[in-house]
Amino acid sequence: MAKTDIKSIGILTSGGDAPGMNPCIRAVVRAGLANNLKVVGIEGGYEGLIHANFRTMGARDVGGIIQRGGTILETRRSSEFREPRGQREAIRQMNNAEIDALVVVGGDGSLNGALKLHEQGVRVVGIPASIDNDIWGTDMCIGVDTALNTIVEAIDKLRDTASSHNRAFLVEVMGRHCGYLAVVAGMIGGAEMVLIPEEEVPMEDLGKAVEDAYRRGKTHAIIIVAEGFPTHITELASLIEHMDTGFNTRVTILGHIQRGGKPTAFDRNLATRFGVKAIEFLVEGESGVMTGLDGRDIVPVSLVKVCSHKREISREYYQMARMLAR
Ligand code: ADP
Ligand code: F6P
Repeated sequence: MAKTDIKSIGILTSGGDAPGMNPCIRAVVRAGLANNLKVVGIEGGYEGLIHANFRTMGARDVGGIIQRGGTILETRRSSEFREPRGQREAIRQMNNAEIDALVVVGGDGSLNGALKLHEQGVRVVGIPASIDNDIWGTDMCIGVDTALNTIVEAIDKLRDTASSHNRAFLVEVMGRHCGYLAVVAGMIGGAEMVLIPEEEVPMEDLGKAVEDAYRRGKTHAIIIVAEGFPTHITELASLIEHMDTGFNTRVTILGHIQRGGKPTAFDRNLATRFGVKAIEFLVEGESGVMTGLDGRDIVPVSLVKVCSHKREISREYYQMARMLAR
């Protein structure tokens, strides 16, 4: 593809924040500057684009952020941008500020927004960032590894107290529509059972798994529940209590601590590589693509494909988690 005449790029972070967004911003800004581009930070996601919350960014503006969770550009969910009128306004503001191309860092919703802009002639590259790991076309999204480390650390602590008291713990992890975090956390955190939105589980099976753990002489039972599992975790807990499994039951909802914290080395690496590649793609004339991790390589993946495919949960991981829970 031909090299382009881009002189100025904008960068925004959008949707749910993910640890690693900051190192990604740093990489985009500094790679942009290294390619003689003016870099404009857009504060507050698409909302900031519509309302022209712009600031020119230099190398020093992204100093000292590589290790910080959250996003210095902040993020919003913007209902205004979902409408064609909001998108038109966003494009107008880009033109006014002479921003030639956009880097969008965010989850599946944000990438759908990026595709809408691309379809209306905006040069755009998306970078997948979501702790849910629910985006098609990339092995990993920014933030997943940090969130998994947070979850595993919490499970390890809960196991200590669960064993001391001979209790069953139900632990809710994020994932409204996708059970990736729950399945992997279950597999590497030693859970007796994992409950995810994608998989129906009869309640008797849940009670049986906990009771079996008790019979086998285990001192605890850990059940990981994705937030999108149709039965709420407190209802699951009272169901287990009534089944008389041998264990008393407690509930822990990990919530938004999974979205915060220092990005791990893996996330910093991924975010940095995605950021540099996003600039490379734009300079080479690519648009309407996402940076995707394919094995060890970072490749351009069409946003049309990303937005029209659903990422399936790995059955293999799910089966492994079940097989090892003995
Ligand atoms: P995430 O990017 O983490 O999945 P959201 O789903 O909330 O988070 O999406 C972030 C923002 O992207 C939304 O608030 C909205 O402004 C924009 N967006 C999401 N879906 C679309 C869409 N289909 N068309 C246009 N914009 C969208
Ligand atoms: O998409 C990331 C995510 O953390 C989901 O796992 C969760 O359901 C949702 O965002 C929570 O969103 P909010 O930021 O609106 O609480």
